[in-house]
Amino acid sequence: MNSKTSNETFLEPELPLYLFFALIMASFTRAASQTLRAASRRAPRALAVSAAQPTQRASFSLLARAAAAKAAQNSAPQGARGVKTLDFAGTKETIYERADWPLAKLQDYFKNDTLALIGYGSQGHGQGLNARDNGLNVIVGVRENGESWRQAMEDGWVPGKTLFPIEEAINKGTIIMNLLSDAAQSQTWPTLAPLITKGKTLYFSHGFSVVFDKDTHVIPPKDVDVILVAPKGSGRTVRTLFKEGRGINSSIAVWQDVTGKAQEKAIALGVAVGSGYMYETTFEKEVYSDLYGERGVLMGAIQGLFLAQYQVLRKNGHTPSEAFNETVEEATQSLYPLIGQKGMDYMFNACSTTARRGALDWAPVFEKANLPIFEKLYQSVRDGTETRKSLEYNGRSTYREDLQKELDEIDNQEIWRAGKVVRSLRPDYKGEE
Ligand SMILES: NC(=O)c1ccc[n+]([C@@H]2O[C@H](COP(=O)([O-])OP(=O)(O)OC[C@H]3O[C@@H](n4cnc5c(N)ncnc54)[C@H](OP(=O)(O)O)[C@@H]3O)[C@@H](O)[C@H]2O)c1
Repeated sequence: MNSKTSNETFLEPELPLYLFFALIMASFTRAASQTLRAASRRAPRALAVSAAQPTQRASFSLLARAAAAKAAQNSAPQGARGVKTLDFAGTKETIYERADWPLAKLQDYFKNDTLALIGYGSQGHGQGLNARDNGLNVIVGVRENGESWRQAMEDGWVPGKTLFPIEEAINKGTIIMNLLSDAAQSQTWPTLAPLITKGKTLYFSHGFSVVFDKDTHVIPPKDVDVILVAPKGSGRTVRTLFKEGRGINSSIAVWQDVTGKAQEKAIALGVAVGSGYMYETTFEKEVYSDLYGERGVLMGAIQGLFLAQYQVLRKNGHTPSEAFNETVEEATQSLYPLIGQKGMDYMFNACSTTARRGALDWAPVFEKANLPIFEKLYQSVRDGTETRKSLEYNGRSTYREDLQKELDEIDNQEIWRAGKVVRSLRPDYKGEE
């Protein structure tokens, strides 16, 4: 067995847990290629817009150059289908579409605005470049000469013209898009708040700062609209989908509506930054579901689950390559894409009857084992425990190095070292960088 890292020690008490990924892995063996039956139930095609894209590793400048020629043209909405009320498994919800905002309308709507994008991490990069390619007046505000400043310059933001120190950008902007890290939003708030004057709009991509105001102390001025557009994916995906002429799904919400136009502005900004469909939510619901999901199945749970399954295989004498293939490679390369395309039953149907029988038997076992953990996780989000941890860790001056150290530990786990070799054998392998 591989040597135990501190991360493994942390996860070990919860090893037999985690929901549906385990059911896939526990039962799937050699059967994936058999009967791809046409699934009788299909999601409406128009909504199938958010298939995850692999993280793009190209440099910012490459991304910007590749995008520049095509993006504005690609992003021009086709047709004008408008607002939709859709029935989601018995619950009616209102969805807003990019198709309702042709480019000319979007540009006209923001003709008197300057979008001041504060922070240039993953979201700043994706949202900023998309809004710029949509022909809007966008400026970036980041710490002068920091890492983000350098990356913004690589993407073609020009110091003194479209790239400014944070305070200066806020003074110039009418729509202040706070895309600093959540910890930095809290730390910088005392300095930034007085600059967000009447008539400006305050925009977030996460409900974190204002919902957990007892911990963050971010209390917006009473005389500005406060809105949210939260893309449901990494900023890299926001950019990639836009360049492909598609759009990411985003949640939109209003915290404070002073002008009576806050919601309309949120929808328009959602389109501006590259959303295809926008789902209504509240700041509270957005932050609770987001913190919960990323700690759960999206990131934390999947790492714990992969590791648990891998360790049992290794303990029982399976080789690293066999353990990795049966845990990660078949999941990510063969089965999860099928779930993404047409749902869980479609993936089940693509597997052997042996695999299906086992998966159907084990799914409820994993569900039962996991439910208390998910309940505990949700409570930890609701009561602010997760927020306080995040503020404490990510508020350190050494936050980048500290996080990287823990990520390096994961990278160094046997499972992921074995994975590098397995990936290198893929027919389409092009290297890791
Ligand atoms: N990433 C996602 O997948 C995602 C998805 C949806 C929503 N969101 C939300 O979008 C917002 C931005 O997230 P992100 O992932 O793009 O950014 P991030 O990586 O969390 O934050 C990076 C930015 O924060 C700046 N920053 C950090 N500490 C600072 C400080 N003390 N003073 C000034 N600037 C500081 C960095 O500048 P330096 O380079 O100068 O340090 C950088 O520009 C967050 O609210 C996040 O929750 C993120």
